[in-house]
Amino acid sequence: MYSPSIHGHCASARAATIERVRVPKLTDGVVLLDAFTPADADAHLAGEDEEHARRFGWYPNRSTLETVRAAFEGWAQDWADDGPTRALAVREAITGSLVGGFQLRLRENRMGEISYWTNAQHRRRGFAARAVRLGCAFAFDGLGLDRLEAYVEPDNVASRRTVESVGFVAEGLLRSRELTAHGERRDMVLYGLLPRGFMR
Ligand SMILES: CC(C)(COP(=O)(O)OP(=O)(O)OC[C@H]1O[C@@H](n2cnc3c(N)ncnc32)[C@H](O)[C@@H]1OP(=O)(O)O)[C@@H](O)C(=O)NCCC(=O)NCCS
Repeated sequence: MYSPSIHGHCASARAATIERVRVPKLTDGVVLLDAFTPADADAHLAGEDEEHARRFGWYPNRSTLETVRAAFEGWAQDWADDGPTRALAVREAITGSLVGGFQLRLRENRMGEISYWTNAQHRRRGFAARAVRLGCAFAFDGLGLDRLEAYVEPDNVASRRTVESVGFVAEGLLRSRELTAHGERRDMVLYGLLPRGFMR
């Protein structure tokens, strides 16, 4: 999950073993993952629906242009400072238009946690699966991580299918794992992916 107020820019411990890496441009010919820019703020905001706000735990609050801009600034800062959160815009490769986002949060011991979203009007066209595949390849090959995790609500079928489509394995149900902005605790399924199980 990413934080409601500033969308995942958190000050948790950075992974000391990770080399400084520039924002990559990752593409499979259909989607392109690269840096968010200030020009993406309106499209990002317009793409956030109730499902998005609920899944990321800030519903009934909603993002505003101000919180989106703050999130973008935090994400840019993390790339510049080798921070823990590596956020990438997900675009249609041909048009460059924003369709979603992907985040890798670096953890200790060469591990990372992924998060992802597809803007409401672009769902069910394979964008999340493609973005997660490219983002995981970058995490393993570009950053040298050994293990990736995703925390998914048990009833979030779309998200479960997304990670399962690249080889993530459900490793257990973590009771009351998440705490929403409103103090509600939620169970999460822990998914794990190792390089040898990655379906590229
Ligand atoms: C989860 C989410 C990112 C999926 O994005 P998407 O671009 O629509 O996903 P894709 O089109 O790549 O589909 C990936 C898989 O999920 C399945 N899927 C997508 N939406 C679905 C739905 N509403 N119900 C059931 N299955 C669904 C697809 O069929 C596909 O499965 P398959 O490989 O078996 O065919 C999107 O629904 C979303 O942004 N949700 C809100 C935010 C969120 O929940 N993020 C994840 C937090 S853990």
